[in-house]
Amino acid sequence: MDRPFARLPTGRGRTVTLWHEDAVEGMAGRLGRRRADVVVTSPPYNLGVPYRSYADSRPRAQYLAWLGSVAAAVDRVLARNGSFFLNIGGRPKDPWLPWDVAREVGRRFVLQNVVHWVKSIAIDRGSAGRAAALEGDLALGHYKPLVSDRYLHGAHEYVFQFTRRGDVRLDRLAIGVPYQDKSNVDRWQRAGTDKRCRGNTWFLPYSTIRERARDRPHPATFPPELPEWCLRLHGLGRVRLAVDPFVGIGASAVAAVRCGVDFVGFELDAEYLRVAATRVRAERRPGRPA
Ligand SMILES: C[S@@+](CC[C@H](N)C(=O)[O-])C[C@H]1O[C@@H](n2cnc3c(N)ncnc32)[C@H](O)[C@@H]1O
Repeated sequence: MDRPFARLPTGRGRTVTLWHEDAVEGMAGRLGRRRADVVVTSPPYNLGVPYRSYADSRPRAQYLAWLGSVAAAVDRVLARNGSFFLNIGGRPKDPWLPWDVAREVGRRFVLQNVVHWVKSIAIDRGSAGRAAALEGDLALGHYKPLVSDRYLHGAHEYVFQFTRRGDVRLDRLAIGVPYQDKSNVDRWQRAGTDKRCRGNTWFLPYSTIRERARDRPHPATFPPELPEWCLRLHGLGRVRLAVDPFVGIGASAVAAVRCGVDFVGFELDAEYLRVAATRVRAERRPGRPA
């Protein structure tokens, strides 16, 4: 197959290219060595998720060995000062899964940061403090309901940032937050901006949808803001090409359009790619959907 599934101009000479191809073969065959400044992805988690084409259930050792081969393919394409952001979650009764994956990938890379992607959080009015002026307690975001008297609901996932030597400089303020306490005014004036580092807990809820088949036709996505924050954190001035080997319905491609960087994605399922291409086209139009 020598033509991409889609090659979409996204403005200012930038392009999103989507390949209907296996992640490892695609990266090996389509991308030159050290070409990708950022790889941002979420692989299958081996939790039996009902994807359209891929069977998400194999013996753990086989799964980890396969992710090892994905890491080797990323190792070849990632730039010297590149970042490999890997999103993965577990499930309450298998909490080691993300860490088993991190260990496997960590054979080739240094684990520079661990981000907790918080999908849902409850904030008591009292702990928010008076300055927040909350009228009541807050319970925000969504999680998958779990019937259990043993386990808490899984309300977060991980984003592991892997780099070659653990010394990639970040643009922390690109996703920074304003100082809550303005008595820190001296500090932020000295820094030249009323912003501080967001830290390693990122609250990014899914948007509410009415009909899955129409609004989010994929069983395991991340919101486009997740890869967007990864790209901005790495520093947009240092991103020429972003890659997602498991592009699904294209959240990372949408993020690349928002950030104005070139993008290449791979995916086994043509229907997911069709949705990804539609989202990328919509992102370019004014009045785009959220
Ligand atoms: C966790 S999902 C990624 C979802 C994506 N982040 C999004 O927001 O749409 C993993 C994806 O990997 C795809 N996949 C599984 N094995 C693959 C392979 N060997 N090569 C390419 N894609 C694969 C699945 O079809 C699935 O869409």
